[in-house]
Amino acid sequence: MLRTCMTTAMVGCLLVALLNAQPPGPAAPVAPAAIMVAPAAAPGVTAAPVPLLLRIPEPYAPRDYGNLVGMPGFSGTSLSNHFTLYQGYVKNVNLLQSNLRTLLAGAQETTPPYAEQKRRLGWEFNGMRLHEYYFDNLGGTGVMATNTPLYAQLCADFGSYDSWKRDFTGTGKMRGIGWAVLYYDPFGGRLMNMWINEHDANHIAGGVPLLVLDVFEHAYLTDYQLDRAAYLNAFFGNINWDVVTARFSL
Ligand SMILES: [Fe+2]
Repeated sequence: MLRTCMTTAMVGCLLVALLNAQPPGPAAPVAPAAIMVAPAAAPGVTAAPVPLLLRIPEPYAPRDYGNLVGMPGFSGTSLSNHFTLYQGYVKNVNLLQSNLRTLLAGAQETTPPYAEQKRRLGWEFNGMRLHEYYFDNLGGTGVMATNTPLYAQLCADFGSYDSWKRDFTGTGKMRGIGWAVLYYDPFGGRLMNMWINEHDANHIAGGVPLLVLDVFEHAYLTDYQLDRAAYLNAFFGNINWDVVTARFSL
């Protein structure tokens, strides 16, 4: 009995510690506005309210990025095609989610179709979400304020802004299709430029994407053919650093 009580207490302490644990540096990204609900409680037991995230209803609707049309260095044709590709990812995420729910309801969760669609979901989902990060961090002036915590962290971690930029653009010029992402690792308290192969390989667990660059060929072939460097130059000229800086301060 004593052992049972001690084990329960230890588990309780561990849970409290985990719930209270905070990584160093800027706080981890916060959830959207939350509502409080009281879960069902056993008779005679008073249940404490628990937060339930405000959920976006499914099917998920693609976001409108028409505000980006007219950006210097990005033709309307290129952007229009890119928006269509993004909408395809949203469509497939909704389809896979629906299919998986249907298979689960039919007790098909150990079948190859379930496994393959579950495997595919991460690729489609990140294809959708990374495009949203990318479009959201465009439409700006490309000028980064030097009096921000993010600028200071870039300098601290890379030596200078120019050194960080060389590392980021070098990442973006790597052979292959994928993404260059400036991540903040809240556990290590450091910024990292990462190459993401396709949509789903090489992300860092727990990392907060701050600046996202699409280097799939569809992002630049229309306007720049094989000149990826010219595309990166156009990208940097349109970065919305206010958005990027806000992601770091969440
Ligand atoms: Fe793309």
